[in-house]
Amino acid sequence: MLRRSFLAGLCLAASVGLAPALAQDTVRIGLILPMTGASSTTGKQAEAAIRLFMQQNGTTVAGKKIELILKDDTGVADTTKRIAQELIVNDKVNVLMGFGLTPLALAVAPLATQAKVPQIVTAAATAIITEQSPFIVRTSFTLPQATVPMAEWAAKNGVKKVVTLVTDYGPGIDAEKAFVERFAKDGGTVVESLRVPLRNPDFSPFLQRVRDASPDAVFVFVPSGFGSTFMKQFAERGLDKAGIRLLATGDVTDDDQLNEMGDTALGVINTHHYSAAHPSPENKAFVEAFRKANNGMRPNFMAVGAYDGINLVYKALEKTKGNTDGTALVDAMKGMSWTSVRGPVTIDPETRDIIQDIYIRKVEKVNGELWNVEFAKIEQVKDPVKAAKKP
Ligand code: PHB
Repeated sequence: MLRRSFLAGLCLAASVGLAPALAQDTVRIGLILPMTGASSTTGKQAEAAIRLFMQQNGTTVAGKKIELILKDDTGVADTTKRIAQELIVNDKVNVLMGFGLTPLALAVAPLATQAKVPQIVTAAATAIITEQSPFIVRTSFTLPQATVPMAEWAAKNGVKKVVTLVTDYGPGIDAEKAFVERFAKDGGTVVESLRVPLRNPDFSPFLQRVRDASPDAVFVFVPSGFGSTFMKQFAERGLDKAGIRLLATGDVTDDDQLNEMGDTALGVINTHHYSAAHPSPENKAFVEAFRKANNGMRPNFMAVGAYDGINLVYKALEKTKGNTDGTALVDAMKGMSWTSVRGPVTIDPETRDIIQDIYIRKVEKVNGELWNVEFAKIEQVKDPVKAAKKP
């Protein structure tokens, strides 16, 4: 009896003594993603990329053990918020990461501010997001950043009359606005702007309206995961046959679904920050390793946002020598540059958005698969919305 309670006492002392030390030696990252629901492809891609990064780079940084806690928010903002709260209060995470859709990122911004926990947005792309908390740093992109080059290309390449068709929420409205403004400035005309609901979208009636307006082209944004449904309905309504050109952001010709889209996607001109066909040695190695680790799955821009997001956390921890103070980590991230698999990137120290090359691409068949083949690039693009606000 005595011996047993002595041992129990020892164990208790050990755990009391050890627990705080262990906690200090661990960096906890709360990863919140839509693993189920309409945007589950974003969750699947982002998780795979982060696991690959940790497999390639180890799980110890500046003497600290990195612990990943993955939670599925199913793409519902109230759930994202509740999970973030639990991660902050119960799990005492040092970093929050993920955020597959704009409303999910916005729901957490006040919590990040209050708790002084860095919120790394690897997916959501409405311009205003980084302005909602000084603790938000973004490694994805903004819709205006990707869209302005599309409008410029259209105006320069004989497109005069356009209808815009976007998903009716933050990023879609950003894309619509950026396209309409830039295209008008460059002498083009947008004759109609259509917005399709985010939940259970039926594109058909909207595509019929596009057909009736008979523009030279339709400019489209739909979020990642919706591209193949859109493309199917585009073909069913016969828009390709009617000679209405499809222009898009790369969210539509998403690498995750491009091969399911079939020949309707062939020749589609689109603009974005990442293509799995990007011909750099870094990207070739990344695509090969990603496919190998994930049953042949091709990485898309959601994978790359997450891969760069975890890289940024590792780099910041190295710079702070393992200090996990939220303000110190965000300060370390500001102005950081690296060679991403998408090309050279920098975290804008003023906006905490990502500065990156935007590529103009054309969907082509290469070795029997469809790819977004880059044929021009605009170097080191900042989010144009925030750049325009500067005095
Ligand atoms: C967003 O909700 O901000 C979002 C989601 C998917 C995209 C782009 C933006 O492809």
